[in-house]
Amino acid sequence: MHSIFAATSIILPLLASSAVTPIPSPFVGTILAPTSGLVIASGAEIPFAYQTRNWCEQAYTEFKVSIVPYAPTFDNVTDADGTLQDALHEFGTFTVVNFPTIPPQGIPPPETLTVPDLTELTGSAIDNSELFIAVSDIFLSCPGHVIEEIGVTSVPILYNPISIP
Ligand SMILES: *[C@@H]1O[C@H](CO)[C@@H](O)[C@H](O)[C@H]1NC(C)=O
Repeated sequence: MHSIFAATSIILPLLASSAVTPIPSPFVGTILAPTSGLVIASGAEIPFAYQTRNWCEQAYTEFKVSIVPYAPTFDNVTDADGTLQDALHEFGTFTVVNFPTIPPQGIPPPETLTVPDLTELTGSAIDNSELFIAVSDIFLSCPGHVIEEIGVTSVPILYNPISIP
């Protein structure tokens, strides 16, 4: 028992300094909205809903929401916060409370996301592109004494399609 408590006190400072190297999570949650193939325009408000898969039984779950120009996997995660390679935009990191009896913490997930002008933001012409709304879900203190695992999921959307008259 003592060794478990000793390990916990070592783990927390490590996490705070992002010195942890996460490994892939065998499970990830589900993006309920937007749905695959949604057509989005810059400036639009799109619906957002993510159902985490709380398989490590955390009190709180943090996840990062990004928009990327490819279908991301764990291999594209660059840090312990779930940052994705070549992300065009990050909507933020949000926290869900997994038990109704505990106080809220962090920023709750929004019900909509505002799509920025990605062409202006990135300086490249990406109209009419397939892009991906991605969630990097962070799982802490998982079974097997794993400090951190990250699961990545995404849905394709169509950005600023060029309409054919
Ligand atoms: C994402 O990861 C895959 C597999 O390692 C790699 O082939 C691909 O180039 C990465 N994508 C980006 C945009 O870095």
